[in-house]
Amino acid sequence: MPDKMKSKGVNKSARTQVGVVGLGFVGLPLALSYAMAGASVVGLDVSRQLVDDLNAGVTYLHENRGEESIEEILRAQIVAGRFRATAEPLDLMAHCQQVIITVGLPVRRGRPDPRPLLEACRSVAEGVRPGAVIVIRSTLVPGFTDRRIRPVFERFGLQPGRDFTLAYAPERMAEGRAFQELESMPSIVGVVGENGIDRVLGLLRMVVKAPIYRVSSVKAAETIKVVENVQRDVNLAMVQELARFCEASGLDVFEVARLANTHERVKLLNPGPGVGGYCIPNAYYYLKQAADEVGCALDLSPAARRVNDLAPAAVVALLGKELRHFRLTWREARIAVLGLAMKDYSGDDRLSPAAEVVRLLARKGASVKAYDPAVKRSSPTKVESLEECLLGSHAAVILARQEAFKPVSADLMVRLLLPPRILLDTRNMVDQGAAKNSGLHLIRI
Ligand SMILES: NC(=O)c1ccc[n+]([C@@H]2O[C@H](COP(=O)([O-])OP(=O)(O)OC[C@H]3O[C@@H](n4cnc5c(N)ncnc54)[C@H](O)[C@@H]3O)[C@@H](O)[C@H]2O)c1
Repeated sequence: MPDKMKSKGVNKSARTQVGVVGLGFVGLPLALSYAMAGASVVGLDVSRQLVDDLNAGVTYLHENRGEESIEEILRAQIVAGRFRATAEPLDLMAHCQQVIITVGLPVRRGRPDPRPLLEACRSVAEGVRPGAVIVIRSTLVPGFTDRRIRPVFERFGLQPGRDFTLAYAPERMAEGRAFQELESMPSIVGVVGENGIDRVLGLLRMVVKAPIYRVSSVKAAETIKVVENVQRDVNLAMVQELARFCEASGLDVFEVARLANTHERVKLLNPGPGVGGYCIPNAYYYLKQAADEVGCALDLSPAARRVNDLAPAAVVALLGKELRHFRLTWREARIAVLGLAMKDYSGDDRLSPAAEVVRLLARKGASVKAYDPAVKRSSPTKVESLEECLLGSHAAVILARQEAFKPVSADLMVRLLLPPRILLDTRNMVDQGAAKNSGLHLIRI
């Protein structure tokens, strides 16, 4: 079956028209992957600015496929006539009856907000013709497809399984590795009703080269995706707690984690300033909503979320302790922050712990300069160069690695920082021996 499906997908790809709804971190690489597989792709987004930028060949995402950047791929696919973006749902639906939706559920005050995704579904439902295939790839509250998405289509007189195919195949890729993982990551899929699985698999197979597992129910597929992210939240909380213990005990957490991992069944992650991005911090709230609905109490996942939520405050507390040691008050302190992204080598600062560290430092009264050229969003603390950031600061705090930080060394820091020259390195970026020999006061978590 997989081989048959594969050849079917490849043969069809030259004439297949695919619509992708939501052109963000998932949607754009996905749309371009379909275009590179030979499909004619129309992408839909509510942001007219984004649509204009993309049609002009401009993207701020940090992805590449081998040597080719996402921007080069975007331009090549536009020139080849295989990709264009639109802000008009009916334009998309006039050309594509195979549509993949990647609009997510933002979390506001601890509650998943269904409105953007339901609106995206409604705009698509308006143009659905008999035989259409709609695949949702967003991360959802378990039960959401059946309880909230299906009724949107039913309001247009469309029954999944009878008039069109509705499927759920959550996206599992990681930012920064999108093109590779869209192909190489095994997928899971659940279909509403019995019909249409072959057409869904055909659509997925155009891009996915790894196994695709059919799940017995859509709710199980939704749960699998949420629990993958919650598991990472719990694992990260585990190592954040270990970092607190090591710091209080005078131990090096990076050494402890590295050598604990020599045990074949231990897999500690790296600690850092917290857990950010759209996916991992939100997953707990999706699980919580579904657990509340069935009256199931959660203990471990909320505790992990709390530990990770408090991680940026722990970074600030650690820095405060060091400043006090050198008799510097928060109001006197000048702090250089390197890295505003939610993780290393990313341009994504959504729910970034680094942004929270900056906010907390400013609230303490410290003067902060932050440098991260990969993050597009502007902010009053941001400066334009590494030198400008470090020069005249008492302390540097490294919160995310970036290519632009390659020149960072203990010597550079010593040259540009003011005494007491504190370096709080949460990413284990600067060589420990060199930092100590050069006279930096190094703290690592
Ligand atoms: N970012 C990741 O690494 C990642 C990985 C796996 C899964 N996911 C999941 O994929 C989904 C999308 O995540 P993302 O990071 O790409 O989000 P994103 O915010 O980058 O992209 C979503 C896009 O949808 C657009 N949009 C909002 N409402 C719309 C509407 N009604 N019609 C058309 N477009 C609309 C937004 O303007 C935005 O460009 C989420 O459910 C997320 O949890 C994300």
